[in-house]
Amino acid sequence: MNQKIKDKISTMEATLIDFRRTLHQHPEIAFEEIETTNRIAEKLEELSIPYKRMDPTGILAEINGEQDGKTILLRADIDALPVTELNDHLDYRSQVKDKMHACGHDAHTAMLMTAAAALNEIKAEIKGTVRLLFQPAEEVAEGARKMIEQGVIEGVDNVFGIHIWSELESGKVSCPPGPSFAAADMLTVRFKGKGGHAAMPHQTVDAAVMASQFVSTLQTIVSREIDPLHSAVVTIGKMEVGSRFNVIAENALLEGTIRTFDAVTRDKIESSIAQYAEHIALLYGGTVEVDYERKTEPVVNETHSAKLVQSVAAEAFGESALQEEPPTMGAEDFGYYMAEATGAFALVGSGNETKDTCWAHHHGRFNVDEAALKVGAELYAQYALAYLDQSEF
Ligand code: NI
Repeated sequence: MNQKIKDKISTMEATLIDFRRTLHQHPEIAFEEIETTNRIAEKLEELSIPYKRMDPTGILAEINGEQDGKTILLRADIDALPVTELNDHLDYRSQVKDKMHACGHDAHTAMLMTAAAALNEIKAEIKGTVRLLFQPAEEVAEGARKMIEQGVIEGVDNVFGIHIWSELESGKVSCPPGPSFAAADMLTVRFKGKGGHAAMPHQTVDAAVMASQFVSTLQTIVSREIDPLHSAVVTIGKMEVGSRFNVIAENALLEGTIRTFDAVTRDKIESSIAQYAEHIALLYGGTVEVDYERKTEPVVNETHSAKLVQSVAAEAFGESALQEEPPTMGAEDFGYYMAEATGAFALVGSGNETKDTCWAHHHGRFNVDEAALKVGAELYAQYALAYLDQSEF
């Protein structure tokens, strides 16, 4: 653990909280983070840290250590959500109607900026390069991919990201090796039958029957086709069929999501869905189009990186700060970086009953315990240094 980093971050706590509150008041959603990008640029300029603007939003900054070494990428997401803030009691609540930092990305941005300031002060001690990525559009699972297309991961040896977590007690750190967030895919299915009069079903092919049968049959993919020791979710969240009580529907549109952790399960589900849909259409004399779109990659912590995060956290915050959260079927587009380089993704607890910060992410009452921000900022900086300091890794 680097004491100078710890000391610097503790002196910056008020600035850290202030920056988070400014961002919180001015939320911008995916790929519209123009003011947010400007605010980040302004701070980096004050610190004389070189950076470049990404297209269309986001920033990549770089701190080059005075000694040779590897390159680590630290990532914070910067986007907000189309959610209405219900925290009327906060004087720093969102000033933009129906937009809110309801996932804590304002906190991530402020934490990474604080880590940058601390690391920049000890540049002479850094062996290698720290890249700081302020990534847009995490909430629509497109930002990471867009950043990778623009070269952020080239030459990177290790990646590290943090998410503030309201379900975890404030100040705790969770980073177990193995799966943490699932791969999230999107499914669109269109059945086509033949419409007609409700009283003359023999002259029609009922799209409502095909769609209903499909949703019911789909349930056996998880229960009967995949290894019960491998986790998976198949959910149909939307079904549009028919127009009137006495008309047999010609078309049905279904949309859903598939969540998995491993490639074998993911491939199996994708092929089973196509098989089920085609056979149901065939059975009833209709046709079907299946569009299976792979969205985010799973977040799977590489063992060595995760253990390094745990040891850094134990040293910086005490053994009692460590906790192992179970994996979630939720998604996080950080998985795209992990498909390109080894690394880890940590959760930093921000849940505190007395401060009313245990609301679910994406809820209008969501808020973070700001005492956890310095933990996140320090974890970014200490992990980067610890990783670059290892000669054998
Ligand atoms: Ni989030």
